[in-house]
Amino acid sequence: MATVTFEHVTKKYGDVIAVDDLDLEIRDGEFMVLVGPSGCGKTTSLRMIAGLEEITEGTLRIGDRVVNDVAPKDRDIAMVFQSYALYPHMTVRDNLAFGLKLRKVPKDQIEKRVNQAAAILDLGAYLDRKPKELSGGQRQRVALGRAIVREPAVFLMDEPLSNLDAKLRVQTRAEIARLHQRLKTTVVYVTHDQVEAMTMGQRIAVMSQAKLQQVGVPQELYDHPINQFVAGFIGSPAMNFVETTVTGSGETATLEAPGLSIPLPARFRASVGPTSGRRVIAGFRPEHLDIGEPGPNVAALPARADVVEYLGNEELLHVVIGGADLVAVVSAAHRVRPGDQLTLVLPLEKLHLFDPESGLSLARNGASPA
Ligand SMILES: Nc1ncnc2c1ncn2[C@@H]1O[C@H](COP(=O)(O)OP(=O)(O)OP(=O)(O)O)[C@@H](O)[C@H]1O
Ligand SMILES: [Mg+2]
Repeated sequence: MATVTFEHVTKKYGDVIAVDDLDLEIRDGEFMVLVGPSGCGKTTSLRMIAGLEEITEGTLRIGDRVVNDVAPKDRDIAMVFQSYALYPHMTVRDNLAFGLKLRKVPKDQIEKRVNQAAAILDLGAYLDRKPKELSGGQRQRVALGRAIVREPAVFLMDEPLSNLDAKLRVQTRAEIARLHQRLKTTVVYVTHDQVEAMTMGQRIAVMSQAKLQQVGVPQELYDHPINQFVAGFIGSPAMNFVETTVTGSGETATLEAPGLSIPLPARFRASVGPTSGRRVIAGFRPEHLDIGEPGPNVAALPARADVVEYLGNEELLHVVIGGADLVAVVSAAHRVRPGDQLTLVLPLEKLHLFDPESGLSLARNGASPA
C-alpha cells in the first residue's frame, strides 16, 4: 500500500512557516498534483515525503508506516527534479543503471529494468549516447527513466517539465500521464502551472501561503471552488471578480455595482442573509460570458469592448463594465471590434459569490448552501 498521508504536518525554517498544518491523504496508485503560486510550500511538502526535510510537527506516513524518522533511502520513493542533473560523462544506459548499481542490484536485473524503462520511454535508440547528444525532451525522459528503474512505491516529481519548451511540455505531459496509466504507481507531482495540474491530476491539492486550500478532482475545483483564491487560481483566463452590494430583499434582491445589476439567485439567499447593503464579491468565468439577449435566469451586463485578442475559434475580449476591467471569451464569429458596445449575458447558475473578508464561497455554485 503506497498511500502517503500528511497528518497535521508543519515545517518551519526558523520563523518562516513553509508548510502549515497540512492534512492530506494521497491514495494508493493516485496521481496527485500539488499546485500553488511560488513559495506556497509545494517543494517543501514533496521534500518531506522524500525525507530530505525534517518535519517540525505532525506525522507523515507512507503506507501504514510512520516515516518521520526514516532515512530517504529506506522510503521506497524516487524523485524527479526540475533540473534533470544527468551524469554528463555517462551514457544514457549508465545513467539509468547508476542508482541500481549503487544499490547492488544484480546485473541481469539491472539490464532487464533498464531495457524496460528504455522501451516505455522510447529511449532504446539513445542508450549509448551521452546526455549532451540528446534534446531537452530526451534528457527529461532519461531523468524519468532513472526514477522508473527504481520501481519505487511512490514517484515524487517537482516541476519536471519546466525546462522544456511549450510544445515539448504538452508532449511530455501526455507521456507522464500515459506512464502513470501503465505503472499505476502513486505519483505526487508538483507544479505552479494550473493547466498542468488540471490536465494531469486525478486529484489536485491547491496550496497558498503554506496552507492547503482545497483538494478535489479537477472539475470539483473548477465548478465548486471553496474560496476566492482557488476560484481565481484554477481556470484560464482567470475568473472575473466584482465587488457588489446586495440591494433589496427576497425575490427581488439584486447585486449592484457601477454599471451592473445581477439578480441574486435563490440558492444564495440563505447564505447572503436578509441584509440589504451587505458587500459580496461576485465571480464569473470569462468562458461563461457570451454575447446575447437577456432572458430568464440570465444576467445582462452592458459592456464596452476595449481590447480584442483573436484566437482563431474564439476571441478574448477585454471589456469595461461600469468601472471594472473584465475578460470574456466568446466565439470568434462575433467579430467584436474595440469600442463596440455589447450586451454580455451570464447564466445565473454560473455565478459565484464570495465573502469579502474571509474569501469563502457563499453557497457553492450549483449546490445547496452548506
Ligand atoms: N531552506 C530554507 N530556509 C528557509 N526558508 C525556506 C527554505 N526552503 C524554503 N523556504 C521557504 O519556505 C517557503 C516555501 O518554499 P517552497 O520551496 O516549498 O515553495 P514552492 O511552493 O516550491 O515554490 P516554487 O513554486 O517557487 O518552487 C518559502 O517561503 C521559502 O522561502
Ligand atoms: Mg518549488
